[in-house]
Amino acid sequence: MDTSERVVLPLLDFPQNGRVLDVGCGNGGISFLLAELRPDLHISGVDFEANPVADAAAFAERHGLSRLHFEQGDAHQLRFADGTFDGAVCQTVLTHVRDAPTVVREMARVLKVGGVFSRPNIPRAARSPAMTMCIWRNGMKPGSVSITASASCSAGASWRWGAAMIRWGRVPLLATQAGMDVYDVRLNDRVMHVFPPYRHEKQRNYLELSKRYHAPAPDDRWFNLTLETILAGGGTEADARWYYAATDSAGILQAIEAGVLSATGSFALYLTFARKPLSPST
Ligand SMILES: C[S@@+](CC[C@H](N)C(=O)[O-])C[C@H]1O[C@@H](n2cnc3c(N)ncnc32)[C@H](O)[C@@H]1O
Repeated sequence: MDTSERVVLPLLDFPQNGRVLDVGCGNGGISFLLAELRPDLHISGVDFEANPVADAAAFAERHGLSRLHFEQGDAHQLRFADGTFDGAVCQTVLTHVRDAPTVVREMARVLKVGGVFSRPNIPRAARSPAMTMCIWRNGMKPGSVSITASASCSAGASWRWGAAMIRWGRVPLLATQAGMDVYDVRLNDRVMHVFPPYRHEKQRNYLELSKRYHAPAPDDRWFNLTLETILAGGGTEADARWYYAATDSAGILQAIEAGVLSATGSFALYLTFARKPLSPST
């Protein structure tokens, strides 16, 4: 809430009673956060999947949030007319879509001139102990096992740099290519913290996410992702093998199963802020 209220909202500077689009809204996390901070906004959430849209709509209704509206739709082909919204946001979506440049162009299209675009994304920190990520397991063995690494190790530095180059760092470029004027890029300071008995919903969500990330993959997809990222960051295949092996996925799954996983670490959340200029050439 702090980062959103003190940093993100002032940068977005939505007009009073403005219209905001949340692309790939899922079950409405960002929409509800925005609505809490700025109850005057009219927010439309669009997602490909029916279930999260239904959940978000039901939550809005239960809480009397009549300025929020959720619907199914494809981010590659938004049904809204050009220049409809004062703002467009999307969080952790562009890595999931078929064609990110098209989605960014669509977001730019439906913005009014002067409208702002923001797209934060969370790197796959759950799989990356080298991103100032620290996971420790309690009660598995005598003492606790700790996996602590920092971006100062060379494989970690390559991973982080590669990730910025080929994934999250692409967003300012995509926004520029869509005719937007990027006026700020930020890295947030949120620290994820997960401890038994996992009282908070976010902690339980993190465990579910971790289960997915650490589940044995039927192919080399996770290793290939690591390799691609580390090579793009200037590392070697040996770095990628070391880095991949440093993540004890089986141990993490076992700890989740036993209800003893504790984890904390920083999710580097890149936020790109861009504005639709008065004329595309300015
Ligand atoms: C990681 S979730 C993020 C959800 C939400 N933005 C949040 O921050 O909680 C990614 C979302 O993108 C949605 N998505 C993927 N492809 C899409 C598309 N082509 N059009 C609309 N939504 C899409 C998925 O259904 C999913 O809800």
